Formats: sequence, structure tokens, C-alpha cells
Amino acid sequence: MSAGDSFLTTPFTFFASASSITRCGGRPVFADIDPATFNLSAPAVEQAIESQHPAKLKGIMPVHLYGQCVDADAFDALAAAHGLVIVEDAAQAFGATWKGRHAGAIGRTAAFSFYPTKNLSAFGDAGAVTTTDVAVGEHMKRLRNHGAARRYYHEEIGWNARMDGIQGAVLRIKLRYIEQWNQRRREIAANYDQLLQKAGLTGARGISTHVDASHPVALPATAAEAKHIFHQYVLRADRRDALRDFLHQRSIGCEIYYPVPLHLQQCFAYLGYKPGDFPESERACAEVLALPIFPELTEPEQQQVVAAIAEFYSN
Ligand SMILES: Cc1ncc(COP(=O)(O)O)c(C=O)c1O
Repeated sequence: MSAGDSFLTTPFTFFASASSITRCGGRPVFADIDPATFNLSAPAVEQAIESQHPAKLKGIMPVHLYGQCVDADAFDALAAAHGLVIVEDAAQAFGATWKGRHAGAIGRTAAFSFYPTKNLSAFGDAGAVTTTDVAVGEHMKRLRNHGAARRYYHEEIGWNARMDGIQGAVLRIKLRYIEQWNQRRREIAANYDQLLQKAGLTGARGISTHVDASHPVALPATAAEAKHIFHQYVLRADRRDALRDFLHQRSIGCEIYYPVPLHLQQCFAYLGYKPGDFPESERACAEVLALPIFPELTEPEQQQVVAAIAEFYSN
């Protein structure tokens, strides 16, 4: 990518998805999300391309948000139709698949994060990039090593972006367990679904993304083609901020990923977006709440979380 190129992504993601575009001199262009999965909507991307004709559009960066892959088939078709590359933000999706295709092997390149909060986490900061293109792989290896394939011979200007050995050692051991940990996350998610339904907090399963006083909670939806790894278990909740405060008062960890969509971040004001441009992303920012999820979470702890949510909505 060169200065002035644009790259399309979702406004409902962590900041780094879009800042990675600006760091390459590119201009982020946003399209709205699918309200069921919270992932970048392929039809919205298509519409953005056809109605806005973004200048020098080079590619699309879908984000496998919360551990669920985007619709890889739809993004393949978009890339082919418009001559674009797909760069995956797979930071939250180690082990996730779409029809058996792994996150990280869907686009031309992908980036993973092993930050300590991630489902596959190191002892400190770490990450990895993947590619399906051998030449790009060689380029990545040079870039991480000050642009040199051979010591002290620099073909280009890179960085020191090598993973610390200590982080690699931790990850190498954890890799043995990641499949079972991801499976455990899926079981915990299914159990939350059941407990929340039994508590009478939800509307019709999988149909509605709407919450109101009579059905205050909407469960996360998983596409049939996706193997979700539930990096996060994220609800929509009526009176979300008050529920978050209530759970925090009871020492139940919960978090809002993300309270402000990227098109309304101060640092991106120069892009010229305004409130209302991406209504589903803005609604998600106002309604989502992530409940505790990690492989060691116990059944009684899950019951405690759901009981606290039920107590909140009984008032
Ligand atoms: C969706 C997404 N993209 C990018 C990142 C950035 O990862 P890192 O902090 O390891 O650079 C994160 C990490 O929080 C993320 O969740």
C-alpha cells in the first residue's frame, strides 16, 4: 500500500484495525456491520464500494470479532469482483474457522495478537502475521528484521519486530492446549445461552438483535458455517451501562468492547464521518456487554453471573 491508498474496514473493532491502515499511509474507509454477528457486513462493503468509489481502494480488512470468522465466501467474492486484497484482523480469532478454513488463512495476509487477554496469550506483548503468499512471507521476515534477509545487508527499511524468545516459549507450550481451551469456551458460551434463556431474559433465539424491557438480553449469534472460539461472549443488553455498573458492584468482571465506533473517534475526525453514518455499529456500541469467559470458569460462577443479571432486570 502506498500513501493515498484507501482500505475498507469495520468501525466496530479495536482501534488498531484502522490505525494499521494509517501507519502504512493509507486512509481507512468504513462500512457498517451485520447486527447479528457484529462482523463487517459484506453487502455493506459492496454498497460502500459502489456508491462511494473510494480513491485508490486497495483492499478490505475484515475483523473476526469476538472469535467468530467473517463470511469468508462473501469476502472472497468481493475481492475477486473488485480486484482487492483481503487482510484479516485475526487478533481475536486463533483457532476460529469458516467452513473449515482457519482464520489467518482466509486473506492474503492476517495478523494475530497474543496480548495477555487473548485466547492464546503470551506473558507480555506478542503477535504473529500469516500469509498465503510465499513472496509476501519472505517480505514479512525481512521487515521484522530491519529489512535484512541476510545479516547487515538491508534491502529495505524494516523494524525490530521479532517475537521475544520468552514469549515464543510460553506460546509453544500453550499451543498444545489451545484446541481444548477453545472447546471449553464454546461449552461455556452454550451454557450461558441456556442459563440466560431459562432465566427468561431473552426473546426468540437467533432471530432478534433487538432488546427491550420485556426481553432485555439478546444472545450472541453464530453463523452455521462458523466455528466460533468465543474469545468474548457478548450480549446486547437493555439499560447496558446500568447493568455493567450493577455487575461491577458485585465484583463480576464485564466489559464493553467497544464504547465508541472508530468513525467517531477524535483522531479520525479528519475522515469526515458523522454520527448516524453507521447505525448498526453505533447501536452495538450502546448495547454490547461482554460477560466473563475463560476456560477455567466454573458452572457455579456462570450461575452467579446470570443470577446477578436476572436480579438487575427484576428491579
Ligand atoms: C481486533 C483487534 N485488532 C488488533 C489488536 C491489536 O493487537 P496488539 O495489541 O497485540 O497489537 C487487538 C488487540 O486488542 C484486537 O482486539
